[in-house]
Amino acid sequence: MTEGTNNKILITGGAGFIGSNLCEYFLSKGHEVTCLDNFATGHKHNLANCIDNPKFTLIEGDIRNAADCEKAVKDKDFVFHQAALGSVPRSINDPVTTNDVNVSGFLNMLVASRDAKVKRFIYAASSSTYGDSEGLPKVEAVIGKPLSPYAITKYVNELYAEIFSKTYGIETIGLRYFNVFGRKQDPNGAYAAVIPKFVMQLMQLESPKINGDGNYSRDFTYIDNVIQMNELAMNTTNSAAVNTVYNTAFGDRNTLNDLMRYLKEFLSKYNPEIANVVPEYGPNRAGDIPHSLASINKAKELLGYDPQFSLQDGLQEAVAWYWDNLK
Ligand SMILES: NC(=O)c1ccc[n+]([C@@H]2O[C@H](COP(=O)([O-])OP(=O)(O)OC[C@H]3O[C@@H](n4cnc5c(N)ncnc54)[C@H](O)[C@@H]3O)[C@@H](O)[C@H]2O)c1
Repeated sequence: MTEGTNNKILITGGAGFIGSNLCEYFLSKGHEVTCLDNFATGHKHNLANCIDNPKFTLIEGDIRNAADCEKAVKDKDFVFHQAALGSVPRSINDPVTTNDVNVSGFLNMLVASRDAKVKRFIYAASSSTYGDSEGLPKVEAVIGKPLSPYAITKYVNELYAEIFSKTYGIETIGLRYFNVFGRKQDPNGAYAAVIPKFVMQLMQLESPKINGDGNYSRDFTYIDNVIQMNELAMNTTNSAAVNTVYNTAFGDRNTLNDLMRYLKEFLSKYNPEIANVVPEYGPNRAGDIPHSLASINKAKELLGYDPQFSLQDGLQEAVAWYWDNLK
C-alpha cells in the first residue's frame, strides 16, 4: 500500500458533519485539502480547525453548478464526494430539491472528476439502498426496493458510478454509510439525526421522542470508523477493490432503547439529573425499516478495514464533545 501524504484532495460537503471530519483528518496527515460547500446544512464553524491551515482551501459553491464543480476539482488527485441533502423525511417533503442535489449534483461531480482525470472518486453512498430487503446482515450484493426518494437518489449514485467506471475508466468507490454519529453532527433543525438530537434533549432535561417502541435497531457507526474507511478507499492499490461499494459500519446492532440507556448513563456523569429523564414513545416513521445491520466482511477482506469504535466507545467520545461544545 502506498500512502502518500501530499495528495491533493477535494471534499465536497466539507462543511458538514462527515465532510468536516474528513477535512480535519486529511489535513492532519499532511494532504492538501479543498472543501466545496454551499452551506445548505453545513457550517463554517465546523471548519474552525482547518481555515487557517495553509494547505486548506474553501470554495463556497454549489454542486448543482457545473462550473463550481470544475473549479473545485481542477488538479485534484482524489475526490471525496460527501455533498448531498441527507434525511429521509426531507426527501419525502421535498423530493425535487433532494433529487437536484443528490442526483444532478452527483452527476456534475462525476463528469468534472472524469474530465479532470482524478485518480479516484470516493463517494458517500447509503445503507438506505438496502430498502425493503429483510435479510440480516446486509451484504453488498443483495439490495431491495428503495423506501424513500432519498434512497432512490443514493441508489442512482451507485448506478452512475458503475457506468462511469465501465464507460470512461474513472475509478470509483462507494461507501454505504450506516447511521454515522460523532463530533460535529448537527443537533439542530427539523431533520437532525437521532443521536445528536437525543443528546441535546437529554442535556436540556427534555424527554427525547422515540418513534415506535424503541425496539428498532441500527448499526450505529462512529465517525472515526468512517474516516478509516475513506482513507483505506483512497490508499488501496488492490485493483479488485475499486469500482465497487462497501458497507461502512461497525458490524453490530443496538436498539433505540439500548441507545437511550447508554446516552443517559454517559451523560449523567456530567449531570446526575439526566438519569431521571424518561423518553416518550410515538408512532413509527414513514420510510423507516425495523432493523439494520451490516456485514463488514467485504471491507475487511478487500480493504483491510478494522473498525476500532463500538457504539459505546464512540458514544462516550461523542457525548464528551457535545458536553464541551454545546452546553
Ligand atoms: N450521517 C449519516 O448517518 C449518513 C448515512 C448515510 C449516508 N450519508 C451521506 O453522507 C454524506 C454526508 O452526510 P452528513 O451526515 O455529513 O450530512 P451534512 O448535512 O452534515 O453534510 C452535507 C454537506 O453537504 C453540503 N451541501 C448540501 N447541498 C450542497 C450543494 N448543492 N452544493 C454543495 N454542498 C452542498 C451541506 O452544506 C453540508 O455541508 C451525505 O452524502 C449523506 O447522504 C450520511
